[in-house]
Amino acid sequence: MSMKEERLQKVIANSGVTSRRKAEQLITEGRVKVNGSIVTELGTKVTSQQNVEVDGIPLEKEDKVYLLMNKPRRVISTVEDDKGRKAVTELLSPELDQRVYPVGRLDYDTSGLLLLTNDGELTNQLIHPKYSIDKVYVAKVKGIPTKEELLKLKKGVTHDGERLKCVRSKLLEVDKKKGISMVELTLHQGKNRQVRRMFESLGYQVEKLKRERFGGLTLGNLQSGEYRALTPHEVKELYDLAARNVK
Ligand code: URA
Repeated sequence: MSMKEERLQKVIANSGVTSRRKAEQLITEGRVKVNGSIVTELGTKVTSQQNVEVDGIPLEKEDKVYLLMNKPRRVISTVEDDKGRKAVTELLSPELDQRVYPVGRLDYDTSGLLLLTNDGELTNQLIHPKYSIDKVYVAKVKGIPTKEELLKLKKGVTHDGERLKCVRSKLLEVDKKKGISMVELTLHQGKNRQVRRMFESLGYQVEKLKRERFGGLTLGNLQSGEYRALTPHEVKELYDLAARNVK
């Protein structure tokens, strides 16, 4: 067994219970015990042989799972919904022992690539704004944005007081008759409803939205609602990507 020491908040976050920040809060609130004693000091180091409990419940040392799903529309990407809508986790096999969480969110009406994992450390790295990971979306837009407008999206637009921008914007297809276009946007930011809001700021409505790529991962042949496990190589690439992209 490894005797490597790790910071208590990291061990809690990695177990998938919560984020690093929330784990710190749990510690300072006196809700965490190490080998039966309450620990409130944030820097405390623990080894895998020590017993960590949160609110009296021991952290499970479960195997890590990494899934890539083609999320359908009309499914929420949180674990539960107070409006009773279907959650992505309901699409997973009941035989999956681990409880996994989505890495970031896709809107109820957005489809496409969604990662799910119980690896809290990787999740925190991938969704942290300082990690500039490509997220590629294809939007079906009501209207045909001009070159200048697409450039504007790169320079940045303001929506509800928030500065939103993409790193690339590309017009893929135009249907002049129907007055509809397909536009690809690559984001590093991950703000709430970002693509829809960016087009809204130009006066366009997004009719459909799909995420096609996350870092180096694409949907491949996965049909809507299907998922597959990432290969160890793909997991390593995600870790490498997060490490490379620290700003
Ligand atoms: N931008 C959106 O507008 N919605 C998503 O789900 C993701 C990015």
